[in-house]
Amino acid sequence: MIEPVSTSAVAAKPPVHIAIIMDGNGRWAKARGLPRVAGHQRGAEAARAAVRACRELGVRYLTLYAFSSENWKRPVAEVEDLMSLLRYYLRREVGELEAQGVRLRFIGSRERLAPDIVTEIEAAESRTRHNEGLVVVVALNYGSHEEIVHAARSLARDAAHGTVRPDDIDETMFAARLSTDGIPNPDLLIRTSGEQRLSNFLLWQAAYAELVFVNANWPDFTRESMESAIAEFHRRDRRYGASRG
Ligand code: IPE
Ligand code: IPE
Ligand code: MG
Repeated sequence: MIEPVSTSAVAAKPPVHIAIIMDGNGRWAKARGLPRVAGHQRGAEAARAAVRACRELGVRYLTLYAFSSENWKRPVAEVEDLMSLLRYYLRREVGELEAQGVRLRFIGSRERLAPDIVTEIEAAESRTRHNEGLVVVVALNYGSHEEIVHAARSLARDAAHGTVRPDDIDETMFAARLSTDGIPNPDLLIRTSGEQRLSNFLLWQAAYAELVFVNANWPDFTRESMESAIAEFHRRDRRYGASRG
């Protein structure tokens, strides 16, 4: 099926990898006098729509920051609401995503996650592992500092065992120990809700990502918002440290 493409900027080659900090669910709910969980529910629907938009636009990788390693600081009831929503979407969506050719990957520590969630995410990864369409990377209990420390520890362990020579450690070897091994670095990193910070998200990988900060709260992020962010990306001049060509 040929999908309608509404702007010429979007018709241009889309970014290979879009990463999103889906922020502002709580403020969306508060502005409407609703409980925070209502914002998270609408946020989950917005994530679903973002996956669809990326599939239709020909994006290859979409990374969604769903829960940070610092989000455990929130009230237990809110954490439980977020985990329940995750369970619900894993059960409801994985079959359809599998049929659509989407490959699912989860990054972040599995240590504090409930065993049934770990089972679901492992099943989702293995069911979709042969798919060749959009790769959706869900950052769940993810934090860059933890990820980088983990990589350093694993290289140090190998060095102590004599299987890695410290002088051989380079950027490629280091990146291969991160949870994003095999995934190209994000080209475009979007954060909603007007906040302009990375909150421990993809600190290594986003070294040369174009950052786009959107004022809308995440539940209000639409396909049009995605297209505008991509259009903004196309207006940027990516130099990677070189002089202007
Ligand atoms: C993003 O929305 C969802 C998660 C961090 C899980 P928030 O819950 O952070 O919403 P605000 O920032 O409080 O509005
Ligand atoms: C970042 O949002 C994490 C996710 C969107 C999952 P936060 O709302 O947790 O970030 P801070 O606390 O405002 O930096
Ligand atoms: Mg927030």
